[in-house]
Amino acid sequence: MVRSSYLALGALVFPRNSVAQDADAEAQNFGAKSSCDGFSDCGSCSSKTILGAHTCSWCEIDLGCHDLGSVASPCATSMENNHCVSKATLSSCDKSECTVGDAEVPRHLHLAVAGPTGMRVAWKTNGPASCSVVVESSGLKVPSETRTQYLVGHGYHHVATLTALTPGSDYGYHVDCEGQTSQTRTFHVPATDLSEASFLFVGDQGTQEAGQGTKTRTRLEALKASTDMTVHVGDIGYADDSFIHPVLFPDCVASFCYEAVFDRYMDWMESHIDDKPFMVTPGNHESECHSPNCIANRGHADALRNFSAYNTRFAMPSKESNGVMNMWYSFDYGPVHFVAANTETDFDGAVEGKFGDGGWEVGLKAGSFGQDGEYLRWLEADLIAASANRADRPWIVAYGHRPWFTRDHRSKDPEATAPLRALYEKYGVDLYLAGHVHAYSSHLPPAGSSEVPVVVTGAAGCDEGLEGWAKAEGVADDGYKYYTDGQMYQVGTLDATRESLTWKAHSSETGDVFDTFTLTKQVAV
Ligand SMILES: [Fe+2]
Repeated sequence: MVRSSYLALGALVFPRNSVAQDADAEAQNFGAKSSCDGFSDCGSCSSKTILGAHTCSWCEIDLGCHDLGSVASPCATSMENNHCVSKATLSSCDKSECTVGDAEVPRHLHLAVAGPTGMRVAWKTNGPASCSVVVESSGLKVPSETRTQYLVGHGYHHVATLTALTPGSDYGYHVDCEGQTSQTRTFHVPATDLSEASFLFVGDQGTQEAGQGTKTRTRLEALKASTDMTVHVGDIGYADDSFIHPVLFPDCVASFCYEAVFDRYMDWMESHIDDKPFMVTPGNHESECHSPNCIANRGHADALRNFSAYNTRFAMPSKESNGVMNMWYSFDYGPVHFVAANTETDFDGAVEGKFGDGGWEVGLKAGSFGQDGEYLRWLEADLIAASANRADRPWIVAYGHRPWFTRDHRSKDPEATAPLRALYEKYGVDLYLAGHVHAYSSHLPPAGSSEVPVVVTGAAGCDEGLEGWAKAEGVADDGYKYYTDGQMYQVGTLDATRESLTWKAHSSETGDVFDTFTLTKQVAV
């Protein structure tokens, strides 16, 4: 929840001149000629010697040959030792031998729903490889529809969409990039008349040992078999926060680690998201890189501002729902119509409507993913259509990053959520799921109310820690029943039938369900 403040932290911990010196050194290094320049393959680079000493290292990230210890290499930080090749005795590189095909190896495979009979596959390669998704049962090859590099020297992100799949079927697939193939993965296409489905929800997660994300990662794995997909309500890997954790990421205080941390998150999650859809929505920690290195190195900052990494690495069904990128979209699954809301930009009062998470202080502009008013017009049109389709799909569930309630039913960011909340109430959205606050809470309006039940599921274990407040439950003055716990790492599940929605909050550590409720409705048969 806490907005990272570069200026405040920079003054206390990271002197500006150290960053400037780092950037100057980087610039000088880029421009200088070295004995490692000119090598375009790993073997020649790592074999280069001067007076018998190895002097170069190969970086698999930018496919470049660099002087040993050069800060110009994306492999300069310890975060990237596993992508670095050197035969030098004192090198910190993990590898001393070249990996065949490191430019073409498909990495970070993950899935997203793409319409009722479609599945979108996304992945990364370090080099500009030509890739296809191969459907194993038929041999069908679907080439990448996009191959995007949002930051020079940091890989290419591919997207391909499998369409006209058979409802109710299982598929095996792999990705082939110029002969480098991934292992076989599988996915399931829901039946057209699917009447029951289960969904796993997580928010404000972080990466591995930065925070308590490991417990939640284990719980996600335990709940995977009983759920159909995972939905992330934003603040995903916290790549933007790596610079404020000198103990966890000592190299990241002044060096550039945003891409390394995001890659580590994708590596860490791949086995969870490569065989079931992983649906995401933007949080404030997706908006930009505002580390000292990024602010000093405008090339990094400009390339990474305004949700560029988030919108390139993932590929949500906006084409199928007239949405925009991964900022807003919707999809159907079983008895539920899901609306993925953007709480960050593109409406009056949006917190990041003009500048990203660093605010105007760091000057990274954000927003304007649509024309003025386009987002809210889309949201209302989507809700009108879903409301008209209640007989076929009884439930409308919205999810976004920021809630309007928190803790023991206190108001939270009312101006930043008011336009969205008004539309949800107008069209009878059945449930709204959010994060941003690093604590769990549920808020259930009194029977007969037109207001929307709210769940805050933002305690997955991010590096900013938990809010810390004690468990509390009761009935508020406005009649809402609430439950909150600010000391529990958690995820949630939503089990849907045509007649009911059952929410369960699970302790990440023990798996115990510590809060649950069921919403019901009469459905015409
Ligand atoms: Fe947040």
